[in-house]
Amino acid sequence: MINNIKGKVVVITGASSGLGEATARLLSAQGASVVLGARRIERLRSLADELTGSGGKALAVATDVTHCDQVKKLVDAAVQTYGRIDVMINNAGLMPSSPLERLKIEDWDRMIDVNIKGVLYGIAAALPYMKQQKAGHIINVSSVAGHKVRAGGAVYAATKHAVRALSEGLRLEVKPYNIRTTVISPGVVATELPNSLTEPDMAEIMRKVYEIAIPAESFARAVAFAMSQPENVDVNEILFRPTGQEM
Ligand SMILES: NC(=O)c1ccc[n+]([C@@H]2O[C@H](COP(=O)([O-])OP(=O)(O)OC[C@H]3O[C@@H](n4cnc5c(N)ncnc54)[C@H](OP(=O)(O)O)[C@@H]3O)[C@@H](O)[C@H]2O)c1
Repeated sequence: MINNIKGKVVVITGASSGLGEATARLLSAQGASVVLGARRIERLRSLADELTGSGGKALAVATDVTHCDQVKKLVDAAVQTYGRIDVMINNAGLMPSSPLERLKIEDWDRMIDVNIKGVLYGIAAALPYMKQQKAGHIINVSSVAGHKVRAGGAVYAATKHAVRALSEGLRLEVKPYNIRTTVISPGVVATELPNSLTEPDMAEIMRKVYEIAIPAESFARAVAFAMSQPENVDVNEILFRPTGQEM
């Protein structure tokens, strides 16, 4: 496969665990410079140390994606350190799902703030640089829940449907700037995501759903596939699941 990854500057939100961490490892191993954002800075620092110890280039920046200025600082740090931003991966997210009638309004707010507004802030931070460069790639993370709704998961599904809508709107609008856009919708993947559930019965349901979860590298390979294509090939959507996942 063409390696269109080596030398690229890639910003990843939610890089302190799960899909983001696995993606940082894979892209770093393939020669990308990775700029890691999340709130748990110690985890980011130890990942950055590990990657630089293996000969890679990595930078850790404490980032809460619910703050627009912090996401801008993350992207600015990438450009200041490495001179450009080639790929923005808006991956940070959480899933404290529960039936609507329980009125877990704080959980709804957090999902909207991280899963939707966090993605928008990532776009806001990266787009001006990419427009100027006349090149770039924005990768947003949706979910199977961005395609299908399950009872008890309405708000999470709404946020992930929103990510797909935003990604399609972005795709249409950034054509003049030679920017690629990809939305990736994973099925159940083994990460810390179920830890964000706040309702014990939902956690138990999800524990069963996650029994068939596949490793986080499955997502990292999907990112690598989209990035590796020649610059005139724009992989817009990837939907993948464990082979045994029905929904
Ligand atoms: N795992 C799955 O089955 C699955 C399936 C479909 C879609 N997804 C999506 O994949 C993405 C990554 O999730 P994951 O599965 O890798 O779960 P995870 O292991 O829990 O990782 C979530 C990441 O998001 C970060 N994050 C949460 N709130 C944040 C905030 N306010 N600011 C900055 N970072 C924040 C976390 O870092 P800190 O806590 O350190 O900030 C962590 O690095 C999410 O968007 C999720 O919805 C996952």
